[in-house]
Amino acid sequence: MASDVETKIVVLYGGNSSEREISLTSGKAVFEALKSTGANVRLQDIKALQEVESIATDEIVLPILHGGFGENGELQKALEDRGIAYAGSNSEACAIMMNKPQTNARLAAQKLPVPTGITLTSPDQPFEPIFPFPWIVKPANGGSTVGLTLVEEALQLKPAIQEAFSVDNEVLIERFFEGKEFSVSILNDEALLPVEIQYPDKLYDYDAKYTHQGGETHYHCPPISLSDDQIKSMQTLAKLAASVLQLRDFGRVDILCDTETSIMCVLEANNLPGMTSDSLLPKAAKQTGISFPDLCLQLVEMAQSRQEVL
Ligand SMILES: Nc1ncnc2c1ncn2[C@@H]1O[C@H](COP(=O)(O)OP(=O)(O)OP(=O)(O)O)[C@@H](O)[C@H]1O
Ligand SMILES: [Mg+2]
Repeated sequence: MASDVETKIVVLYGGNSSEREISLTSGKAVFEALKSTGANVRLQDIKALQEVESIATDEIVLPILHGGFGENGELQKALEDRGIAYAGSNSEACAIMMNKPQTNARLAAQKLPVPTGITLTSPDQPFEPIFPFPWIVKPANGGSTVGLTLVEEALQLKPAIQEAFSVDNEVLIERFFEGKEFSVSILNDEALLPVEIQYPDKLYDYDAKYTHQGGETHYHCPPISLSDDQIKSMQTLAKLAASVLQLRDFGRVDILCDTETSIMCVLEANNLPGMTSDSLLPKAAKQTGISFPDLCLQLVEMAQSRQEVL
C-alpha cells in the first residue's frame, strides 16, 4: 500500500495513565511503520488532554494511547469537538468499553454470553452470592489486571474486595469461567483469526503478560485448540459483540471458550489495543497477509474516510 504525502498524520502516544510505558512503545512502532511508507507523519507525546489544542484541524489523528483519557473517550470527545478525524471508536463507545459492567450489560441485553456477575459500588455493600466459587473480583474500569483477584474460598473475599476498591470506586464480582483464552481482532468490521493465549497459571495476569516470572506465555495464531467450526463461531461472536459495542476501525474482543463444549463468553472489548509489531492485533493481521505498515496505513485511511463528513 502506498502512502499519500499530502495527508498530514499525527500519532498521539504516551498519556498519563499507568499504561504510559506500553503506549510509548506502541506509538513509536506505529510512527516508524508509517514513516517507512514515506507518509507525512509526526509523533506527539500527549501528557494532558488540553494538549489536543496543538493539533491542526487538517491532521489525521492516530490515538495510540492505553488507559486513562486516551482510552475512556475523553480524548475522542475533544477531537470530535474540534472536528478532527481520528482512527478508532467514537467517544461514547470508548466510554462503554472502558467500563466492564456497562460492557457486560450491553452485551447481555443482546443475549450475547458474558460471565455472570454482580457490581458493587461500596466495599460494605451486601450481596447474595448467587453462584459457586471460584470468583473473580476486579475493578470495573481496570486494566492490566491491577487489583484483580481469583477468589477460591470465602476467606479470600474481603481482602479481594478491598484490593479492587483501592483502584476504583466500582467493583465487579464475576463467576470464574473455566476455559481457554482467545483474542479476536477486529479490523474494519471484519474478525481476524483468533489468537490463542496459553499462560502458565490460572489467569492471564500482569506477570503472564509482561514479566513472566511464573513462566512463559505462548500466543498461537492460528489457534491450536479450536476446530474450524469453533473458529467461525468465535469470529461471529466477536463481530456481534463489536457491533453491539459500536467498536469502530480496530480493536479486540477477548473471549473465553470451553473447548470441550464450545461454550464461549465475552470477557471484554479493547478499543485501543497494543500496537507494537508483535502485539495481538498486528500478529493476527499478519496472518491474513497485512503487514504492520499496511495495517497502520489502513487505520489512517479509515479515519480519513470520515474527514469530509465531519
Ligand atoms: N470471569 C472470568 N472468568 C475467568 N477468567 C477471568 C474472568 N475475568 C477475568 N479473568 C482472567 O483475568 C484476566 C484479566 O481480566 P480482564 O481482562 O477482565 O481485566 P483487565 O484488568 O482489563 O486486563 P487487561 O486490560 O490487561 O486485559 C483475563 O484475561 C482472564 O485470564
Ligand atoms: Mg483483559
